[in-house]
Formats: sequence, C-alpha cells, structure tokens
Amino acid sequence: MNNDKKEAGHKFLARLGKTRLRPGGKAATEWLLQQAAFTPQSQVLEIACNMGTTSIEIAKRFGCHITGIDMDKQALTQAKQNIAKHNVSHLVNVQEADASKLPFANNSFDIVINEAMLTMYANKAKVHLLKEYFRVLKPGGKLLTHDIMLVNPQQATAVIERIHQAINVNAQPISYNAWLNLFATIGFTDIKSDHNDMTLMSPKGMIADEGLLGTLKIIHNALRKQNRAQFFTMFKTFRRNSHQLNYIVLCSTKPK
Ligand SMILES: C[S@@+](CC[C@H](N)C(=O)[O-])C[C@H]1O[C@@H](n2cnc3c(N)ncnc32)[C@H](O)[C@@H]1O
Repeated sequence: MNNDKKEAGHKFLARLGKTRLRPGGKAATEWLLQQAAFTPQSQVLEIACNMGTTSIEIAKRFGCHITGIDMDKQALTQAKQNIAKHNVSHLVNVQEADASKLPFANNSFDIVINEAMLTMYANKAKVHLLKEYFRVLKPGGKLLTHDIMLVNPQQATAVIERIHQAINVNAQPISYNAWLNLFATIGFTDIKSDHNDMTLMSPKGMIADEGLLGTLKIIHNALRKQNRAQFFTMFKTFRRNSHQLNYIVLCSTKPK
C-alpha cells in the first residue's frame, strides 16, 4: 500500500481477512445480543454493518428481519456476497446510507445496533448521530453500541494522537462517565454497560473472533511486504496503550 494513501485501520484489517472490526470482538457483541430480547418479529437496524458479519449472525440466530446500512460501497458488495453465502437473503437487506441521515421513518425499529462507529466521530457528531438513532427507534426500543473507552481521561490527548497515527482515523474515544452521560443527554434511560480490555488485535482475541485458521490467514497476509509495517504499527500501538484503552458496550432504552 502506498504510504501517501493511508488506509483506515478497519479497511486494512478487513483486507487482511478480519471479519470483526470492533474493539471487544465476539465476546462484547455477545454481551450486546443478550441485552435485547430478539424475536423473529423484531425489526432490527444495524448501522455500520460493513461486510454484514453481525447482521448475518442475528438473522441466523433469531430468525428476524434486519436492515444493514453502511457508507462503504466495497464493504456492502462483500456483505451481499456473505448474505447469499449464508442463505439469509430473505432476512437481511443491506443498503448504502449515512448514519447521520437515516432514510427511515420515526419509530421504525425495535432494536438498533451500531458497533465501532461512534468512536470515529467528534463529540458534537456523536450527539447528532445518537439523536438520529433515537428518532428511528420505537418507544421502548433498545440501542446496542460497542465503542472504545479511555481508561484515564487525563492521558486523552497523547493516547488519541497515537491511535490516530496507527489507524489513520481521527478516533475520539471518551471516558466511561462521558459515554454514559452522552446517552443520558439524548434521552435514553435504563442504560446498562460493560467494559473490559480491547481484544481487536490481541492474539487471544484474534483466535476467539476468527478461529485458528482465520487467524493464520490474517497473519500470513499481514506478513506480506506491503502490509507488514502497518500491521506492526497497529499491533504495537494497541499493545502499548492497552492499559489506557478498553472496549465499552452499552444497551440504552428509548423511553415509552
Ligand atoms: C470500524 S468499522 C466497524 C464495522 C462493523 N460494525 C464491525 O464491528 O465489524 C466502521 C464502519 O462504520 C462505517 N461508517 C462510518 N461512518 C458511517 C456513517 N456516517 N454512516 C454509515 N456507516 C458509517 C464504515 O464504513 C465502516 O464500515
């Protein structure tokens, strides 16, 4: 990859073969899925569905209809192939849309899930996005989110700069209290949360998320000459800052 054209960390990992592009991996997503009572009748929206990994899992596990949106055309092409491969085309529809202008009516969905996206935005934009998620949720509906949390907000500037250098995305992780306050400010209630060490690039997390064969394929691709530098920069940055960064998952309710 040409250094002048810096590839975003999540696109890079997807190119290497990673299917889960989120800080807490499968375990954190599982916590989220346990919080909302999915049924075959649930109307579900996944915002930032990327290649469709979570949408496909939800459709297969709960038999419900799910709409996935993302802004990335290439990821959506991959999502369509994955949906067909897993025989869930009758349950999962994906479309190109911007999360800040959702093309859905007010009060449309029982559950909205959004993993590893809000962190990419500045605080003002996070507020705007969350208002949009609140709008499309039905009263009593659940919002499930998965993001990066700063363990020690005093170190914010230095950590954010190091992450920016590694993933080429202007990520804006915030503290535990700041995440909780943000959701409360929008009007969400009954906010439940969990947080723990990030697993995105740890060897254990990689194997849990992608299996042994999947991990070997990713490592094989990462060691190719054109990928090596970016892979090790990301790997070392996440490892060196592991005590400063956690994943955070939240389940928030739109009041009835
Ligand atoms: C880090 S990836 C996470 C993908 C997936 N949710 C996962 O956890 O594996 C972030 C995704 O957010 C999408 N995205 C970023 N901003 C968006 C927006 N405003 N509207 C829709 N999708 C957006 C990107 O295209 C990308 O697919």
